[in-house]
Amino acid sequence: MTQNKSIIILGIESSCDDTSAAVIENGEIRSNIIAGQKVHEAYGGVVPELASRAHQQNIVPVVDQAIKQADIKPSDISAIAFTRGPGLLGSLLVGTSFAKGLSIAQNIPMIEINHLQGHVLAHFIKENVNDNNHPAFPHLCLLVSGGNSQIILVKDYLDMEVIGQTIDDAAGEAFDKCAKVMGMPYPGGPLIDKLAKEGNPNAIAFNKPRIPGLNYSFSGLKTSFLYHLRDEIKLNENYIEENRANLCASLQKTIIDVLIGKLVRASKETGIKEITVAGGVSANSGLRNELIRKAEQHCWNMFIPEFRYTTDNAAMIAITGHYKYLKGEFANHDMVPFARMVIK
Ligand code: KG4
Repeated sequence: MTQNKSIIILGIESSCDDTSAAVIENGEIRSNIIAGQKVHEAYGGVVPELASRAHQQNIVPVVDQAIKQADIKPSDISAIAFTRGPGLLGSLLVGTSFAKGLSIAQNIPMIEINHLQGHVLAHFIKENVNDNNHPAFPHLCLLVSGGNSQIILVKDYLDMEVIGQTIDDAAGEAFDKCAKVMGMPYPGGPLIDKLAKEGNPNAIAFNKPRIPGLNYSFSGLKTSFLYHLRDEIKLNENYIEENRANLCASLQKTIIDVLIGKLVRASKETGIKEITVAGGVSANSGLRNELIRKAEQHCWNMFIPEFRYTTDNAAMIAITGHYKYLKGEFANHDMVPFARMVIK
């Protein structure tokens, strides 16, 4: 009797400031190791040159740990899936070069992955062999991260269409930049989330963007926030200190209202009620609660990711690799990173 060989994908993610490696066997998670980079905290944002140097230090131990934790040998790997873009070029170069080296050394094929597609497909990672709780096609994905705010029509694993996106800043950027002007460290999103729990979301009204269609804009909100602080500080120099929780709660509510408003519209326009959310900002507790509420109100079948799959991780790269492997979509060794890669 012949036994079907497992499909074992090693995923490698190095697009920004997290070095991650993961092993997925037949769609099921075996390991997902993430090494963050504390070096950027002192600078109020990710410093590209420092990020690529930290990736160089982290990549070998992170991949080694992922392989050991999955209890496999490098020769068991069916293919190496690596993030080709979008991201910081120097950071992407580290993961891409490592994938090429391992591919040549072990004679294993490589698969290039679009990081954004990875975020969307994180919902298909199986936690165990019986895990079949995944979104159906077509579905809508609200992808919200530090670099993107998009509504994506997901027709199949590898067939996606962006139907709405930000014309300037992303939602994560709005969180981070507003946190910065309040003197809070990077990344500001998680801190605003924490402080917002103690504040009144209706305390302060910020200008909401009026952008036609399904597109977003967050740069006006950032300016409205800045002007509000400037005016109030003229009257009370301790304004930020005394109102931090209300500022965080009101800002967070405005961002959530804008994000969900367009998602509701997209669902109505397409008639699709199968909805997912992905990306770093999907860790936001206010957004998660509001999505659950909206799902009940509009009869959506809502998929909210586990926290460990919201921010950058290689498990989402490996699962995307799994589906590209099934279609035989492999990369050549002359493949170079692509900092501005988009979903087409
Ligand atoms: O997806 P991600 O890890 O990186 C990319 O941009 O690819 O997203 C990072 C973004 C940052 O802007 C961070 O502030 C935001 O996600 N973020 C949050 C929360 N956790 C992370 N924003 C709001 N609330 C959170 N709990």
